[in-house]
Amino acid sequence: MTEITLRRPDDMHLHLRDGAMLTAVLPETARHFARAIVMPNLVPPVVTGAEALAYRDRILAALPDGMSFEPLMTLYLTEATDPEDVAAAAASGLVKSVKLYPAGATTNSQSGVRDFDKVRGVLERMAGIGLPLCVHGEVTDPAVDIFDREAVFIDRVLDPIRRATPGLRVVMEHITTKDGVDYARAQGDDLAATITTHHLILNRNHILAGGIRPHYYCLPVAKREHHRLALRAAATSGETRFFLGTDSAPHPDHLKEHACGCAGCFTATNTMALLAHVFEEENALGRLEGFTSEHGAAFYRLPRNEGRLTLAKRDHPARWPAKIGDEAGPVTVFDPGFPVHWHVSD
Ligand code: NCD
Ligand code: ZN
Ligand code: ZN
Repeated sequence: MTEITLRRPDDMHLHLRDGAMLTAVLPETARHFARAIVMPNLVPPVVTGAEALAYRDRILAALPDGMSFEPLMTLYLTEATDPEDVAAAAASGLVKSVKLYPAGATTNSQSGVRDFDKVRGVLERMAGIGLPLCVHGEVTDPAVDIFDREAVFIDRVLDPIRRATPGLRVVMEHITTKDGVDYARAQGDDLAATITTHHLILNRNHILAGGIRPHYYCLPVAKREHHRLALRAAATSGETRFFLGTDSAPHPDHLKEHACGCAGCFTATNTMALLAHVFEEENALGRLEGFTSEHGAAFYRLPRNEGRLTLAKRDHPARWPAKIGDEAGPVTVFDPGFPVHWHVSD
């Protein structure tokens, strides 16, 4: 048996939802993770500091006794966002980033940004105080092929925004392409990128070949194999600009297995075991801790977690429930499609 002990990890991109779904999914993350950057795409979205404070209280109220977890709150950027409200929420320590959703790009993005000139004042204020902007990086132009939307976003939107707002700290969320990796690598230390667990495992064939697999459909959609390999190389490189953001995004099965299925993979339950498997395949187990527990905290200027998490490789495969959350779901847990021998030790 092989064992590795890591500093307790952080998930720098997580969807916890609200109500019964929050209650169902929160323990799946809190079991292994000390903190998470919590996405604000609720209905209605978390736009103001006051709304983020109320949402944080609901998260902490849903945390089972005996578990500890720190939600790191984000604000949903709209064309009406008040720069002073953002600055106050950041100064109080409540809010750690602002999230940019191009309107129409993904789940609950309809309140997002259409005209980027309208958010210039907020972005300039954020650059001034060093508050990171987390970006869902896909154009929504229907003329652009869905598999090209990330690469086109970098050229048409991301790079112009960064040039127009010097000093703006940016996290490219859930990058899915070699284009994203290459762009990130060419920038200074004001730019980082999160990588999900599932994009290290899936390419687009997994979604479409041999039958359509709704539980592998997420946004940005998984791309060709060479993109997956570029993501694996980046995640396991030890470069501090790349860190884990699972984008674990629960949707009830009846909305995934649907004529117009929702986007999102639910990976909170088994992410750490899957990452150990992937990093071992890449001969990079020694770099797992940087990716899950150090690089993200450094970018967000947070102290490192003091707790530890131990993973052990055993002869028998790890098992997890196929589904969680009866009342709110059920929600299907991500199935990597291969046996995983890494177990998180209790
Ligand atoms: C996310 C969700 O369901 O909220 N879905 C997804 O496919 N990633 C939204 C997002 O992160 O884009
Ligand atoms: Zn997104
Ligand atoms: Zn997300």
